[in-house]
Amino acid sequence: EKGGYASFMLKEIAEQPKAVTDTLLGRIDPEGTLHLDEVRITRGELREVDKVVIVACGTAYHAGMIAKYAIEHWTRIPCETELASEFRYRDPILDPHTLVVAISQSGETMDTLMALRHAREQGAKVLAICNTNGSTIPRESDAVLYTHAGPEVAVASTKAFLTQLVACYLVALYLGQVRGTKWGDEIRTVIRQLSEISGSVERVLETMEPVRELARSLASHDTVLFLGRHVGFPVALEGALKLKELAYMHAEGFAAGELKHGPIALIEDGVPVVVVVPSPAGRSVLHGKIVSNIQEIRARGARTVVIAEEGDEEVVPYADHLIRIPATPTLLQPLVATVPLQVFACELATARGNEVDQPRNLAKSVTVE
Ligand code: M6R
Repeated sequence: EKGGYASFMLKEIAEQPKAVTDTLLGRIDPEGTLHLDEVRITRGELREVDKVVIVACGTAYHAGMIAKYAIEHWTRIPCETELASEFRYRDPILDPHTLVVAISQSGETMDTLMALRHAREQGAKVLAICNTNGSTIPRESDAVLYTHAGPEVAVASTKAFLTQLVACYLVALYLGQVRGTKWGDEIRTVIRQLSEISGSVERVLETMEPVRELARSLASHDTVLFLGRHVGFPVALEGALKLKELAYMHAEGFAAGELKHGPIALIEDGVPVVVVVPSPAGRSVLHGKIVSNIQEIRARGARTVVIAEEGDEEVVPYADHLIRIPATPTLLQPLVATVPLQVFACELATARGNEVDQPRNLAKSVTVE
């Protein structure tokens, strides 16, 4: 049932282009308009939303962090993303104009379920983004947008994450479309770009051999650090989470701008640092800043692993290892930038002799608080 792959994780990584396509299927018409009528929250209700709160755990939380950038950019509705396990314990401010989005692959995560119950008790509307038909979280929500990743067996989430991102983009773009923001043209362009993105994911998968080689060469290291900015920051967190859960290594993700506020003290000779570089187009300020960060850490001895878009030549002199990804619109970049990090963690774990589908101490769905 692993379809010739050594692990479910490898199979699920390879299935990502299809999972992305399937999650978009039937939701974009030939004119580039989104149809999410399946989401049973009326357009009127969506127009009245004045705050979006996203709750999720682990990898789904990282998808939610990325969604915040997309929602605020395309809709100008304030959005916050919170760990589901923290949410209800701080008495969050919710009312009928709050849209709570609960993201969960399994639909059975107790922390997320308790957060959504709390939100509904306070009168907020809850939209679930979920991969498992008929599971508890969508059953208890006001509405659901299913991701169509197919069953995810490996404990480490991969294809579910990419489809959660797609679903989050769809929600953000749909809110923008329904409410009509000044970004109307951009929204139409992005919908088109999103419908073509699975080809880019496919291309990344075809060029992963150097990433595998690099992962094997780092098998005896103790620590790997990950840096990113903007939507690349949650990608860095996701890369670190994958490495922790699979390779049992110390891995941390940082927002690159925070380096100088503490983490740069961790940099010493030979420590591998994976840097997710934002798209040079349109975001040149951030791009320039991260290039300086790479220079800074390299000057202090870091071994830099740079994930940068094709055509980005500025990073080349500072990259000990360069991983290329296709040029992608800024907000969509996580869909391609995460894939090398999944492959990296999977290969590193395998090189360390770990069981990648069933990492120690972890369960696929966490049904206790
Ligand atoms: O089923 P869920 O999406 O609610 O699960 C949330 C987390 O437990 C999950 O993403 C976990 O962090 C994964 N093992 C990460 O790979």
